[in-house]
Amino acid sequence: MVEDQIQQLQAAALARIEEARDRDALEQVRVDVLGRKGSLAQFDLGKLPSEERKIAGKALNAAKQVLASAFETKDQTFAAEALNSRLKQEWLDLTLPAPGPRPGSLHPVTIIQNEIEDLFTSLGFAVLDGPEVETEYHNFDALNIPPEHPARDMQDTFWLSNGHLLRTHTSPVQVRGMERLGPPLRMIAPGRVFRNEEVDASHEHTFYQLEGMMVDRKVSVAHLIYFMKTLLSAIFHREAVVRLRPGYFPFVEPGFELDIGCLICAGVGCPVCKQSGWVELLPCGLVHPNVLRMSGIDPDEWGGFAFGLGLTRLAMMRYGIDDIRLFASGDLRFLRQF
Ligand code: PHE
Repeated sequence: MVEDQIQQLQAAALARIEEARDRDALEQVRVDVLGRKGSLAQFDLGKLPSEERKIAGKALNAAKQVLASAFETKDQTFAAEALNSRLKQEWLDLTLPAPGPRPGSLHPVTIIQNEIEDLFTSLGFAVLDGPEVETEYHNFDALNIPPEHPARDMQDTFWLSNGHLLRTHTSPVQVRGMERLGPPLRMIAPGRVFRNEEVDASHEHTFYQLEGMMVDRKVSVAHLIYFMKTLLSAIFHREAVVRLRPGYFPFVEPGFELDIGCLICAGVGCPVCKQSGWVELLPCGLVHPNVLRMSGIDPDEWGGFAFGLGLTRLAMMRYGIDDIRLFASGDLRFLRQF
């Protein structure tokens, strides 16, 4: 009887489904049994007499349904197993502390620059910017350094083929400030400067300065000293002791080198100050009359002081950094310390 054969096939197929170890094996059983050339397709019911055909057809459909749902059930078992093993692998301990964001930090030169800008703006100074590619006029001539002046050799200059240059100091921004704003004037100008120097632990071809200038009626060395002491006390968080020595720069007269009492040994003498008790910190002076005149300011009516602070050097002193090359190294181990 056809129904019996169908019954037997169904029982055999159920057993194979039961035995299938994985999805591939199960799929193979499905193809063998329900596929187009599978075992259930072999029955040619069309040749049976109509009574028998009805019964056999019913049996065949019933078998197909039973098997289809058996496949489905088995398949779901595999799906659940796959999910479970994935969940086991991808398990996360949500009670672990998060690694936390790693925010960037300010560059040490930027930190000091920001502090000095805050201080000077609170004292009524404007913060000015100037171009890094400068004209020969602003970098030299207008600062009382004419072409044949020996002071041009004090700063090894990167000249561009068009006659311009990379500014060797921030002093040209003094000139631009006087030209644009006129007197009275209180300005600072932080920025990058460039010198054609051999690079070593204490020399870089690119470093930062901060220029300062005040032009007003009756400006004296006493004003200069007051502002420098205020500046240095703020930066080093303690009363700064300063002294002036004569220093030569063509754009100031008189010109000074300002020393600060050594903060390491409080003036007693140590390796940092080479036993002198003093550390050379910044050049400064009263603005030369020629400089005022060239920028259209009458030196009989106005006077001024100017200073040039080495921001990079100051950062090295404050943080005890002994190699200037670290600043532009981009080394995160260095930068993350600030
Ligand atoms: N521009 C000078 C330099 O870089 C420093 C300086 C600035 C000196 C202002 C006096 C006054 O060497």
